[in-house]
Amino acid sequence: MHRLDQLLSSLGYCSRREARGWLAAGRVTVRGVAADDPSAKADPADVRIDGEPPDHPAGLLLVLHKPVGLVCSHDAGEGPRVYDLLPPRWLARHPLVTSIGRLDKETSGLLLLTDQSALVHRLTSPKHKIPKVYRATVDRDLAADLIPRFAAGTLVLNGEAAPCAPAALKILSPREAELTLTEGKYHQARRMFAAVGATVLTLHRTQFGPLELGDLAPGQWRGLALDCLG
Ligand code: URA
Repeated sequence: MHRLDQLLSSLGYCSRREARGWLAAGRVTVRGVAADDPSAKADPADVRIDGEPPDHPAGLLLVLHKPVGLVCSHDAGEGPRVYDLLPPRWLARHPLVTSIGRLDKETSGLLLLTDQSALVHRLTSPKHKIPKVYRATVDRDLAADLIPRFAAGTLVLNGEAAPCAPAALKILSPREAELTLTEGKYHQARRMFAAVGATVLTLHRTQFGPLELGDLAPGQWRGLALDCLG
């Protein structure tokens, strides 16, 4: 059960102060009856807002095909944001919709977005070792001996003391590879290739745990069940 003013504001419809006006205008019903008390509590399943059920009252989990050129930061000063692809009402929700881990501005591919902070913590925690798969193109031919070097768990990134966890490298063509990481150090894929003398030209995430992009076009998202990752 939620207070009606809290329900409207947490789902991004309006502020708690504005909710009073929405109720006075008869825009909110509970079991078909116009509600006028902002402090009244109701089950979201019984509520209609402008005749519609509340928008994802239990929370949001989305898989987005992040295009190149957008940032995962909430700070619009850092450039156009992935959040700007979403319906404006979702940007006004709280807790805030945020990405589960980040992709660099120049990286494309599978990005999860949610307002469930427990999910963010669980899916970004190094102890869960969730495999993330990247497709990289690089500026020079990749030698086969990189496969055991990446798998050894001894590769040290510039500026770091601890080595990277073992990573699976599959060479797809002389300058293209698939890299599977189970941790998320800052710019890790680019820095791993840099550590062996190659510069990443393009980077695209194809998989996060069991999730794949499927036929999502860049800039598109689809909703997921909140429990789809266990
Ligand atoms: N590794 C990177 O270097 N960049 C990303 O965006 C993700 C992984």
